[in-house]
Amino acid sequence: MKKTKTKTKAPQKTKGKKTKGVPGVSSAMFDQLVQEAKAVRERAHAPYSRYQVGAAILTKRGSIYVGCNVENASFGATICAERGAIMQMVAAGETDPIACAVVTRDGGSPCGICRQVLSEFAVDMPIVLVDLASSEGESGKVVQLADLLPLAFRLHS
Ligand code: THU
Repeated sequence: MKKTKTKTKAPQKTKGKKTKGVPGVSSAMFDQLVQEAKAVRERAHAPYSRYQVGAAILTKRGSIYVGCNVENASFGATICAERGAIMQMVAAGETDPIACAVVTRDGGSPCGICRQVLSEFAVDMPIVLVDLASSEGESGKVVQLADLLPLAFRLHS
């Protein structure tokens, strides 16, 4: 598990635009978030789809947690990168993600299950989608979780 300490401020709203960073997150921390997602993608276990995904989550405390997809011969047992990162965060005792980076070969965005799992811990947060094949480099496109998953399910007792 990768963990990095730094000071950060809460991010502000952004709308799917190309950016060199995330508002409220220093550009150094933004670069680190992307680099860690990129690095963990290399460790993906994806012999079936050959589609590697790396995810990194930055928390309010300034820690970064990473995850990669881990496929299984029983396909339904596959775990996505984003959920892997969330599990690491929770296991480390943190529950406040403020930004996420997802790195793929084509700028793919989190699947429906991962959107729901991310939304358990953040009503909204910026998610940087990095396309390794893009000529624009690794700055990525920033989308908002609340835009990806409007009306996320919540259990009200
Ligand atoms: N995958 C992720 O890791 N995250 C997503 O949000 C979408 C899909 C993985 C699962 C599988 O290993 C591969 O990508 C192809 O579906």
